[in-house]
Amino acid sequence: MSRATMLAPVVAHRGASADAPENTIAAIRLAAEQGATAVEIDVSISADGVAFVHHDDSLERCTNGTGNLCTHDASYLDSLSAGVLFPDYINEPLPRLSAVLECIQELNMALNLEIKPKSGLEEPTTRIICQTVAEYWQAGNTLLYSSFSRDALKATMEYQPETPRALIVGAIPENWPEQLVAYNCSNFHFAAAHADKQALLAIRDEGYGLYCFTVNDAAEAAKLYELGVHGVFSDCPGALLGSEDLLA
Ligand code: G3P
Ligand code: MG
Repeated sequence: MSRATMLAPVVAHRGASADAPENTIAAIRLAAEQGATAVEIDVSISADGVAFVHHDDSLERCTNGTGNLCTHDASYLDSLSAGVLFPDYINEPLPRLSAVLECIQELNMALNLEIKPKSGLEEPTTRIICQTVAEYWQAGNTLLYSSFSRDALKATMEYQPETPRALIVGAIPENWPEQLVAYNCSNFHFAAAHADKQALLAIRDEGYGLYCFTVNDAAEAAKLYELGVHGVFSDCPGALLGSEDLLA
């Protein structure tokens, strides 16, 4: 029995984040131009309860802001550049989730929305994300929630039980069957360095979707497909999709 939520063999990780600023509209549009049909983004919330697409707790690495994202109001976050690591993209805004949802639907892509709550903010982060999705995402395109946070997954079961969800881990825990049942997951997402052949076979046999991060080398992706992985998260989807090694 398959319960998997299928994304794509190559999922753009934070957009085409090797070539454009991660988790921005520009990176998502570039991923689509590179041929990606599915994208992964990270989402957290501002102090006044607006969902923003951003990976780190802190603003320093990817934006011209300071401090933690969750301590600022949306008006401050709206004023920031998220393109500081890419000189050509210096005017690229730090995007609200609402704008990103509209963009992804315009591009007709599947979405893996990773919930990245600041510790202690799991419930409000998930609630606000689910509200934003309910307002801006039309039924039709594939949407999969995922999180390392069990509390966030639990909250999605309350706020949007019908939307499929994935547990994310680094290494594959021995009690994966209990965990996947406890959070009623369709998928299991894990770190590529921890691909264990026996475990992957067993997880796939149980019908779960299997995706792993982060894979920027086509030969490595091909090996993972052989092990039964359905897809890989990649910062350079265009390079993987254009490589002859992918299906070797
Ligand atoms: O969702 C897969 C992957 O994005 C998880 O790790 O830290 O890149 O968000 P991270
Ligand atoms: Mg992520």
